[in-house]
Formats: sequence, C-alpha cells, structure tokens
Amino acid sequence: MDLLDRHVVVTGAANGIGMALAQRFHRAGARVVVADLDQVKCAEVAAELSATREHSAMGIGADVGTEQGNIDLIRAAEATFGTIDLFFANAGVGVGTDLETPEDVWDLAFDVNVHAHRWAAKHLLPTWLERGEGYFCSTASAAGLLSQIGSAPYSMTKHAAVAFAEWMSLTYGNRGLRVSCLCPQGVNTNMLNQGDVAGAGVSSSVVRSAGVVLEPAEVAEVALGVIEAETFLIAPHPEVLTYWSRKVADYDRWLAGMRKLQARISGEA
Ligand SMILES: NC(=O)c1ccc[n+]([C@@H]2O[C@H](COP(=O)([O-])OP(=O)(O)OC[C@H]3O[C@@H](n4cnc5c(N)ncnc54)[C@H](O)[C@@H]3O)[C@@H](O)[C@H]2O)c1
Repeated sequence: MDLLDRHVVVTGAANGIGMALAQRFHRAGARVVVADLDQVKCAEVAAELSATREHSAMGIGADVGTEQGNIDLIRAAEATFGTIDLFFANAGVGVGTDLETPEDVWDLAFDVNVHAHRWAAKHLLPTWLERGEGYFCSTASAAGLLSQIGSAPYSMTKHAAVAFAEWMSLTYGNRGLRVSCLCPQGVNTNMLNQGDVAGAGVSSSVVRSAGVVLEPAEVAEVALGVIEAETFLIAPHPEVLTYWSRKVADYDRWLAGMRKLQARISGEA
C-alpha cells in the first residue's frame, strides 16, 4: 500500500515505536491519527506533524484496553479524516512476571496486548469488507514467535497477538484485507529502558543480551517497507528469524538453550 493521502491510525503513538510509526507514515504522505492513553502527549506529537502539513495529523486520547475505547477512537478518526485505510494496533504493556502475577495485571496484559486488536478489527472490518480494501497491522513482539524469559503474561499475550494477525490474514485475505504483524526484539523505548517488560528488569536485560537494540525510527522504516510490499511479517531484527527457525527445526534443543539462558539470568548457573 502506498501511504500517500491514506488515512492511518496508530495506537500507542505518544511514545516509542508508535510515535516513530506515526512520524514515518506522515512523512510518506499519510494523514495520521496519533492515538494514546496520554492525551496531552499525543496532541503534541500530532501538532508537530501538522505544523509541517496543514490538517494532516490529529491527536486522539484513547484507551484501547476496552471495546468502547476502540469504538470511540475509530468513530473520532473517521469523523476527522474519513474512512480509515490502515489501522496500526501498536499500544502495548509489558507487565507481569510469573504465576504470582495478580489477576488485574493478567487482565491488563490481555486487554491491551490482545483484545484491543480484535476489538479494533471487529469495528473496522464491516467497512473494509464492504469496500474490498483495508490494512490491519499489529505490534506483537519477538516474544510472540519465541518467548519472553521472566514474563508469562508478555509471552502469552504476544503469541496470541501473532495468532490473531495470522487468523485475520487467512480469514479475510481473499476479501481485500491486508495484514502485517510487527515482531521486534529490543527497541530503545520507555518499555525497554524502564525494565517494564517483566516489572523487574529481568526481561529487559535478557532482551538486551539477545541482540542489537534498534532505534524506533529504524523499526518504523522497516515497517513502512513491509506495508508497501504488503507482506505479513515485519521483523526488524534479522537474528529473530534465525532463532525462530532454530525453534521450529528442533523444539527440544531450543527449549534446552532457553533453560540455560534462564539459569544464567537467575544466577543458577
Ligand atoms: N521496546 C521493545 O523492546 C519492544 C519489543 C517488542 C515489542 N514491543 C512492543 O511495541 C509496542 C510499543 O511499545 P514501546 O516499546 O514503544 O513502548 P512505550 O512504552 O514507549 O509506548 C507504549 C505506548 O502505548 C501506550 N498505551 C499503553 N496502554 C494503552 C492503552 N490502554 N490505550 C492506549 N495507549 C496505551 C502508552 O501510553 C505508550 O505511549 C508494544 O506493543 C510493545 O509490547 C516493544
């Protein structure tokens, strides 16, 4: 999809990867809705974009962790720039650790990292199927293809996000829907830097030791290329594809390697 004059919505766009996606898509000529829980910051990001091209960006405060939040966002975006061409469900939370993780934290992880994607899709699809065109992108993670040492909720929700994106592609791909799924490893954002992924910094140090930490702008550049090519997987870290192919080739060997890493991280080895 060529993004020139297209209407793009990016969630979680007040910071990090989402902000970089919004900026890059805007530079490619899109009209961009910058959506986030942080209403003030997303208005600032949108104002900076609009300063370079009049009426080309809008900040919309949204909580995508509820179905109503997604409905309100979609309606507000449509009222601003008309039918949405591309919706990028990028907002995410890196919360929770092991089986002692409180129930409300599990709920938050599933609401924002998984259910937000299906709630958005549920309210976007009728229009897209009617006109035979639409583009749904989501941010999962390398943790959705591999795993996340230190965080069961993150591992599970990111696998579910990949599964949902795959399901959308195979179910609606013949009816004009395009789907891509972003699966980065380490990216230099608040989530990584605040050690937020496991709530205790364990996961962040694993991510850092697993490979290069990219800048959000580098991730956005790769994402734009994949969207232009209309292919599924956005994998800005090539090493993730190597780890992933090793997992598929020999599951038990891969698990043994991950157990070794787990032991090293927790000081057992
Ligand atoms: N940083 C990494 O290393 C990394 C790696 C793989 C995947 N990811 C994924 O990338 C995505 C973006 O994360 P980031 O690294 O840019 O982190 P970030 O913390 O910089 O940005 C996340 C944004 O999402 C927003 N958000 C959270 N809950 C929301 C909600 N309910 N409604 C609306 N907005 C909400 C936050 O306000 C924040 O602006 C997430 O899905 C994350 O899981 C990040």
